[in-house]
Amino acid sequence: MASSPGLAALLLLALFAGPAASRFAPADNHLIACGATGPVLLPDGRRFVPDNGCASMTLRSAAPALPSAAPDAPAPPSPLHAAARVFSCHASYDLAVRRRGHHVLRLHFYPFSPALASARFHVGAGGFLLLHNFTASSPVVKDFLLPVDADVLVLTFVPEAGSAAFVNAIELFSAPEELVGDIGTLVAADGVNRTDGLSSQVFETLYRVNVAGRKVTPFNDSLWRTWVNDEGFLVDKESSSSKAWSFGGRIAYPKDSRLMTREVAPDNVYNSARSVRSDGNLTWDFPVPAGNRYLVRMHFCDIVSKALYQLYFSIYVNDHLAVKDFDISSTTGYLAYPYYIDYVVDVEDEGMLKLAIGGSKMSRPGEASGFLNGLEIMRMNKTGGGMDGDFPGALDMEYLFSKGIGEFARSLLCGLVFAGLFLVLVMLVMRLRTELKNNGTLWFSQSMDSGDGKLAKAYQLVPTKTDY
Ligand SMILES: *[C@@H]1O[C@H](CO)[C@@H](O)[C@H](O)[C@H]1NC(C)=O
Ligand SMILES: *[C@@H]1O[C@H](CO)[C@@H](O)[C@H](O)[C@H]1NC(C)=O
Ligand SMILES: *[C@@H]1O[C@H](CO)[C@@H](O)[C@H](O)[C@H]1NC(C)=O
Ligand SMILES: *[C@@H]1O[C@H](CO)[C@@H](O)[C@H](O)[C@H]1NC(C)=O
Ligand SMILES: *[C@@H]1O[C@H](CO)[C@@H](O)[C@H](O)[C@H]1NC(C)=O
Repeated sequence: MASSPGLAALLLLALFAGPAASRFAPADNHLIACGATGPVLLPDGRRFVPDNGCASMTLRSAAPALPSAAPDAPAPPSPLHAAARVFSCHASYDLAVRRRGHHVLRLHFYPFSPALASARFHVGAGGFLLLHNFTASSPVVKDFLLPVDADVLVLTFVPEAGSAAFVNAIELFSAPEELVGDIGTLVAADGVNRTDGLSSQVFETLYRVNVAGRKVTPFNDSLWRTWVNDEGFLVDKESSSSKAWSFGGRIAYPKDSRLMTREVAPDNVYNSARSVRSDGNLTWDFPVPAGNRYLVRMHFCDIVSKALYQLYFSIYVNDHLAVKDFDISSTTGYLAYPYYIDYVVDVEDEGMLKLAIGGSKMSRPGEASGFLNGLEIMRMNKTGGGMDGDFPGALDMEYLFSKGIGEFARSLLCGLVFAGLFLVLVMLVMRLRTELKNNGTLWFSQSMDSGDGKLAKAYQLVPTKTDY
């Protein structure tokens, strides 16, 4: 793999042309290629190491295609997608944590066989249920931001009865402190209010959007994030009162600021924007699972004005007025100066999150009045037990197993159920039993850290992010 000319060239690019990507060095940085036989090198310069586990099985797909020249071809799958670790029973990874605090956890699922696409399972981390009854029927990266207050993060995979669990890759790295604030603005029908305690919540990022800009890949983002263009979410693409902007100058990140750095969002997000005139509205619609609380982070950087104090605009979150005649110049004091606002909003039955900026009469008619550069939409956890709440009892069977019957019997029983559905894998289950007998319980830990019988409901609304 690493010797292929395409990858080597990309690696060179990463070394010599990736200023943003090399800047941030997280204290914890686990990059795991599950089921891989050797290290996997990504175009963004990162090296994923194989998980070399026992008591689970590895599944491999045909070697993923390397980037092709055809401009319209679908983005090539990541080399991480060539192999998966498949679990027939409850299994865990113990990830050492050197520095407690917020961590980014990304789980890559690439169902390259029908058995994987229909696998139904639960994923917990540190006793907290992240994915409940989850199915990755198409390629998806689940992206979480969570506080970690232990020296080990136990990441647990629990298959539903008769199914298996799988994962292709795991990223767990320390998040920069400035990424998570504690205070946001709660927007509701009866007005806005300050809300705090955000830093203790768990977030699942559903959307990262670069407004009027090109797609940003992990190569150009110091936290290896992917940002997509906003056009697919824009309600009125043809609106005559809106305009797209791009900026070739330098983004003025505040000097020595510990709150606003390139890690919050990369240059490529701040150097493009969409503006709206004083007589118009610019609206984006995002399908989201209903019945959740969301953190909406709106990124602003005035690359639109030639002078200060010309822009005033309103911001609407789910049709509620969040701020009227917002004066960005007074807030930042400079042009091309990045800034963001965190809004918190409850989405009830609509299943749609509507975000808008609207012009103000305080701006000059016919000129840009308001603008937006970037957006992040993160789902917040419902309870202290899981993203979707507590589901006591739902995991009881698994529970009994881990408390009562021994490891071997458990894997045997689990293996039998499993074999019914995944005939192809039966041989491997046999191997798994042998391995369990021989070299212990590395993967099937006795105490179930994510357990506590808490389960939650799963959603799969994240748009497919196959490419890197
Ligand atoms: C998971 O979903 C399936 C199908 O919707 C359902 O039959 C099953 O009971 C669910 N399991 C749990 C633990 O909620
Ligand atoms: C804002 O929140 C505080 C504390 O939770 C509450 O006392 C107050 O009534 C709220 N104000 C509005 C306008 O909702
Ligand atoms: C990174 O960003 C630069 C500047 O916008 C762009 O020219 C380059 O193509 C980007 N690289 C990748 C791999 O996205
Ligand atoms: C913009 O949208 C808001 C909220 O939907 C609405 O109240 C306002 O009248 C709209 N303004 C214009 C100019 O359409
Ligand atoms: C979300 O999880 C955190 C950490 O377990 C917890 O402190 C917080 O109260 C939870 N949020 C809600 C709304 O229950």
